[in-house]
Amino acid sequence: MYLGIDLGTSEVKVLLLADDGHAVGHARAPLTVSRPAPRWAEQDPQDWWRGTLEALAALREAYPAEYRAVRAIGLSGQMHGPVLLGRDNRVLRPAVLWNDMRSAAQCEQLARMAAVAEIAGSEPMPGFSAPIVMWVAEYEPEVFGQLDCVLLPKDYLRLRLTGERATDPSDAAGTLWLDVERRSWSETLLEAGGISRAQVPPILDGGAPAGYLLPAIADELGLTPGIVVATGGGDNAASAAGIGATQRGDAFLSLGTSGVLSVIDDRSGPSPVTATHAFCHAIPARWLKVSVVLSAASCLRWVCKLTSTTEATLLQEVAALDSGALTSAPVFLPYLSGERTPHNDAFAQGVFFGLSHLTDRARLAYAVLEGVAFGAADGLLALRGSGIEPPASLSLIGGGARSGFWAQLVTDVLRLPVRAHLGGEAAAALGAARLGWLATGASPASVLVKPRELAAYQPDAARFALLDERLQRYRDLYRHVRPLFAADRERLV
Ligand code: XUL
Repeated sequence: MYLGIDLGTSEVKVLLLADDGHAVGHARAPLTVSRPAPRWAEQDPQDWWRGTLEALAALREAYPAEYRAVRAIGLSGQMHGPVLLGRDNRVLRPAVLWNDMRSAAQCEQLARMAAVAEIAGSEPMPGFSAPIVMWVAEYEPEVFGQLDCVLLPKDYLRLRLTGERATDPSDAAGTLWLDVERRSWSETLLEAGGISRAQVPPILDGGAPAGYLLPAIADELGLTPGIVVATGGGDNAASAAGIGATQRGDAFLSLGTSGVLSVIDDRSGPSPVTATHAFCHAIPARWLKVSVVLSAASCLRWVCKLTSTTEATLLQEVAALDSGALTSAPVFLPYLSGERTPHNDAFAQGVFFGLSHLTDRARLAYAVLEGVAFGAADGLLALRGSGIEPPASLSLIGGGARSGFWAQLVTDVLRLPVRAHLGGEAAAALGAARLGWLATGASPASVLVKPRELAAYQPDAARFALLDERLQRYRDLYRHVRPLFAADRERLV
C-alpha cells in the first residue's frame, strides 16, 4: 500500500493506493481560508497538520488493514504560499496563499530587478513566494529578521512527518527563485528577492526518498516507523503523475479552487510572454506549461453560499435551463481573487453583467460555470501565444470533474474532446501516492500510467454560435471594466 497526502486549499485529501495500482479509497478533512483584508488569503500551517491528522484518522478507520500496510508516503500540495520558519522550525506567521493579491507592488519591484520570466518561467505575479516574502520583509521586518528557512505547503507536512527540510522542482518552480531549465535555485533570483541560498531547502526529484517517518509520529498515526516519504510535487505536477500525463502534448484541466490548464512539454522554454507559467514536472526532463484561472470551483461554492443552496441542487437547476434561458443569463468575470492568465491583473474583481428581473439563481450559476470555462479558453489562447501547440484533447480532473454538465460546457467552449478518468477528482492525491511508490524503487513507466477513461465528451457544434457570442461579450466586458479596476487600486491596496 502507498499513501498519498494532498494538501489542497479547501481540504486535505488522503488516498490509499494498492500494489496493483488501484485506489482503495480516500478520506478528506476540510480547511478554511482566513481573509484578514479584502484581497488577502492566509492559512495557518498548524491547521494543515490538524487537517492531515483528521483525514488520516478517517482513512484509518475506514480501511484499517490496508492503512497498516502502508510502506511509502507521497505528498502533493497547493503551490506558492511560503511557510516561514525560524530556527527550530517554528512557524513565524500564517502562510500567505497563492490567491492572495497583496504583493502587486513587490512584483513590479522584482520585475525591475531581474529578467524573472527568462529564468523562472513566469512573470512576477502576486501569490508567488518571492513577492510574498518581499512583502513580509517590507511590512513585518521583525518576522523577516527571524527567517531561517522558507518551505512550500506540502514540504511543511514532510517536515512534521520526517523532520527533514526539502522540496522538489515542480513546487520550487512556484517560488520565482528557481532556474526552471536547470531545476536548481538561481542565485540571481534569490538575491533579487532578498533571501539567501541558506534560507531555501535542498531540491530532490518528486519520486526520490526525502525522509523517513519519525517513530513518534508513526506511533500517533498508526503507521510503520521509518517508512519512506517521497519528495512529492506541487498539486498540478502531482495530478499529472496521477493521470499519467508524462509525455509532450498530454494535457489536463484541473477544476479545483483554481482552474489550471496544463500541457506537458519536454523543454522548459521559451520564456512565457502571455502570463502563463513554465513549471517543472515532478519527474525529470519534463515541464508543465500552465495557464491559471485563480477562482474556479471556488466561484461555484461562492454562488451556492450566496443563494443558500448546495452544488448538487444548483447543478441540477442549471442542467434544466433551455437555450432560451441561457441567452438571457448574465455574463460573469470569475475574478473573485484577482486574475492571472492572460491579464495578470491583481486588481481585477468578479463581475456579473446583464442582470434583469429574469435572472434567477440557476442563470447566475450557469454564468459562473461558463465564466470559468471562458477563463480556461483565454488560458488556452495564452498558451498558444507563448508558443505551446494546442493539445489534441484534455483530461478533466479535480472536484469540478464530477459535473457532467460542466464537462460538456468546457468541451464546447474549448472545442476540444474532453475525458474524465477513474479517480480524476482525486488526481493529485493519487499522484502523490504514486510518487511515494516511486520512492520505493518502482519504475515511472510502470507506475505513471493513464487511469481508465470513465466518460468522453465531444464538442457540440450546435452550441458554438451562442458560446462564441457570449465569449466575445466576456472579453469585451473585461476590456471595458479594466480601467475601473485600475482606478480602484488605491482603495484596494
Ligand atoms: C498554480 C496555482 C494553483 C495552486 C492551488 O500556479 O496557483 O494551482 O497550486 O491549487
